[in-house]
Amino acid sequence: MSDFFAALALALLALLIIVLGWWLLFATEGVYLGRRVVIWLYDIFAGRYDGIKHFQPEHDHMFLAQPIMQHVAPLRAPYVLDVATGTGRLPLAMLRHAHFEGPIVALDASRRMLDMATQKLEGQAGVLLLQAAAESLPVPDGEFDVVTCLEALEFMGRPTDVVRELCRVVCPGGWLLITNRRTGRLMPGKTFSEARLRDLLTGGGMTAIKFEMWQVDYDLVWAKKRTL
Ligand SMILES: C[S@@+](CC[C@H](N)C(=O)[O-])C[C@H]1O[C@@H](n2cnc3c(N)ncnc32)[C@H](O)[C@@H]1O
Repeated sequence: MSDFFAALALALLALLIIVLGWWLLFATEGVYLGRRVVIWLYDIFAGRYDGIKHFQPEHDHMFLAQPIMQHVAPLRAPYVLDVATGTGRLPLAMLRHAHFEGPIVALDASRRMLDMATQKLEGQAGVLLLQAAAESLPVPDGEFDVVTCLEALEFMGRPTDVVRELCRVVCPGGWLLITNRRTGRLMPGKTFSEARLRDLLTGGGMTAIKFEMWQVDYDLVWAKKRTL
């Protein structure tokens, strides 16, 4: 009998380790293990990222590029920064927009994700790809007309600092577009309540804050930088 209980205890321990490993490495993409692990995982899976996500160009046009152009109208050449660009989804959506003429800086901490973005953006003028961390953006204050950060904040070790950093680099009158994860139960401490995010954005000098339901997992959040 005692052998039976020892085997059961071992089986339960193994199950616990498997579930914990799945949660740490896959469900939360390594965020509780630090930035190096997050980026290492994105480096490993970069080649499969688009296949997993199944992005639809019409969808990204309708919910990202077109509303961005409406928010900055009549500007046709806004200076855009996409933080945590991944395989270049936002730059591609902007470049496909018939009226967009602006330059884009697209930044990510994963070299392999940027390599995939480089392949997809090959031959496109006006896009600068940069390897850098979102926690400390290598750009001056108030530099960009539009700053975006999509489906990424919850994978950052210090998302609060990243939100402040994103606000810092938007120019007065410019727009910030970020996503806020709605299903945060599996990621304690890594997602924001609407009230908390509003406070953070207001503290970062933002106004006209709007939450829009976007996907099952995400809201789109728009905010405008106060003019001086
Ligand atoms: C889920 S992907 C989103 C990519 C893209 N924004 C999109 O919508 O497809 C998250 C991205 O965040 C990047 N990332 C994670 N932590 C980062 C950090 N601290 N600084 C910069 N990029 C980071 C990852 O390398 C990955 O490319």
